[in-house]
Amino acid sequence: MKVLFIGDIVGKSGRNALREHLPFLREKYQPDIVIVNGENSAHGKGITRKIYDLFVELGVDCVTLGNHAFSKDNILTFINSADRLIRPANMFPASIGKPYLIIEKNDLKVGIYNIYGSIFMDNCTESPFSAMDKLIDNTDCDIRIVDFHGEATSEKQAFMHYFKDRVQLIVGTHTHVQTADEDIFDGCGYLTDVGMTGPYLSVLGRDVDEVLDMMVSGEKTRYTVSENPAILCGLFCEISDSEKKAKFIERIQIKPEC
Ligand SMILES: [Fe+2]
Ligand SMILES: [Fe+2]
Repeated sequence: MKVLFIGDIVGKSGRNALREHLPFLREKYQPDIVIVNGENSAHGKGITRKIYDLFVELGVDCVTLGNHAFSKDNILTFINSADRLIRPANMFPASIGKPYLIIEKNDLKVGIYNIYGSIFMDNCTESPFSAMDKLIDNTDCDIRIVDFHGEATSEKQAFMHYFKDRVQLIVGTHTHVQTADEDIFDGCGYLTDVGMTGPYLSVLGRDVDEVLDMMVSGEKTRYTVSENPAILCGLFCEISDSEKKAKFIERIQIKPEC
């Protein structure tokens, strides 16, 4: 099972980078499953129906979310009918949308789960460990993939050690800065944070001048999303269908010319 995971798509620039580079990535990695995190895809916060439809049109199999999942009211009009869209299991409000998706590929059931960190994160409703334990108990899958949306590197590493025998791939999202610790632990592919697909010359996707006005001068600014060309950050992992273990993992970064 070849899995391509693309990190947090930020705004128009991030969407353009996905559209531009996905054909090349498909050609290179021949993925069976493509997952993108879309929590920042609508002008930096949330997702709209139109953008979800764009991801589907691009052939994305699963769209994951995070703390900005419900930033656009528009999501309430389509989240229940968007069959490829999942939201963090243990995040308020827990009653809207679904926290996992099961896809059948290569005669295997692949479960994709969205989990939320409890450290330095607002609106966490339950420990990510107990939330994932319950999801595993309640879903019958051959291969499991987790988007762990969290701030603390420690919590993501601990999560990997706890679940590495039951999950084949754990990809961290949320910090927008890619870490360089990709590896395979007892058959579980892991990366603490996959990084963003968003404006490269920016502060986590936001306009540099506005962030500096706030951080240096204490001015109130709107944290507008930068319009600069995007870096694409992602991860490729190949999981053996017969052994149900990750065999190969590779980080992806495509920087814009600037
Ligand atoms: Fe994000
Ligand atoms: Fe986030």
